[in-house]
Amino acid sequence: MVMHTGRHFLQIPGPTNVPDRVLRAIDQPTIDHRGPEFAALGRAVIAGMKRVFRTAEAVVVFPASGTGAWEAALVNTLSPGDRVLAFETGQFATLWRAMAGKLGLEVDFVPGDWRHGVSPEELERRLSADKGHAVKAVMAVHNETSTGVASRIAELRQAMNRAQHPALLLVDTISSLASIDYRHDEWGVDVTVGGSQKGLMLPPGLSFNAISAKALAASKQAKLPRSYWDWQPMLAAATTGFFPFTPATNLLYGLKEAIAMLEEEGLENVFARHDRLAEATRRAVRAWGLEILCADPQEYSSSLTAIIVPEGHDADLLRKIALDRFDLSLGTGLGKVAGKVFRIGHLGWFNELMLMGTLAAIEMGLAIAGMPHRRGGVDAAMEFLAGNRR
Ligand SMILES: Cc1ncc(COP(=O)(O)O)c(C=O)c1O
Repeated sequence: MVMHTGRHFLQIPGPTNVPDRVLRAIDQPTIDHRGPEFAALGRAVIAGMKRVFRTAEAVVVFPASGTGAWEAALVNTLSPGDRVLAFETGQFATLWRAMAGKLGLEVDFVPGDWRHGVSPEELERRLSADKGHAVKAVMAVHNETSTGVASRIAELRQAMNRAQHPALLLVDTISSLASIDYRHDEWGVDVTVGGSQKGLMLPPGLSFNAISAKALAASKQAKLPRSYWDWQPMLAAATTGFFPFTPATNLLYGLKEAIAMLEEEGLENVFARHDRLAEATRRAVRAWGLEILCADPQEYSSSLTAIIVPEGHDADLLRKIALDRFDLSLGTGLGKVAGKVFRIGHLGWFNELMLMGTLAAIEMGLAIAGMPHRRGGVDAAMEFLAGNRR
């Protein structure tokens, strides 16, 4: 085992690097969560998260990983035996679908090739055919973290409108929120699911639901059993800034700081930075002669890139070399693409030189692993970045 010095490069697509400012904010004494100081914090983070989700509607914060907020989205809006429509865009869509099945929902799962996002045309076709409105909700993962494919949520909403279908639109933004443009209200999303450990630059442990008035109304009728995930006590308490149970106080300190950082940079600039670093990454991949898993350029993810290694080679060998030799963590291939792809996370607290270090380690790793490739990926990325200033 080589002794590593300097900073570890955490370039998996989440958890992401936590800024020093956020770490320092978390490193404060825990306060009374029933006291006035906490109420101000609670109100501030809910208001801030509304700005991040781009919603004027309700937001709840769970002390939970993203999976908890997935469950909350389902159990608050649906009843046993309800039909829902989901799309096999990758591993996370598959896991969310499995959860829906376990909760007693009937899932129509549209097969996919893990290289494309949710098809607005297919969604419209399916909903138009559902004359009796049996489908109660559409589940879509905005940014498939397993594939680096971003579905076009605004277009999905338009497809639902064209089909004049009343199903709720439930969207997972766990790896897109605060990295890729997202608008809960404008795009007519009913429940948005978010997590702390990616674009929000926090450690894992918080997750979110943004909730439309229509979803809130549905929750009054929904019959799936729920207790911890129940929105009602959360919303009742949220008006005061308090939680119905013990909140993750120190993570909320971090969240307040992270929102301040995002707003100092400006969300539009945050998105543009992610777009630019993602483009530089793709130029490097093409220069290496490797293939990007995402097959449709209009669905490229700005928060991560999944790269297919040449046939007969093991993506995890490259990841092992990157970690052992260069102290760089890259994302592994998940589910159906295990061993076939590696993923570069370029989201969160990240900049040009961190990207260049990451790409340099990969280019060296490709050579050490003996994987067929061309040199020059690092050069291609540098050329793009030098000519594309902020
Ligand atoms: C798109 C997406 N959805 C859901 C999850 C599950 O979230 P968690 O692992 O925080 O429970 C993840 C985790 O990486 C994710 O990327």
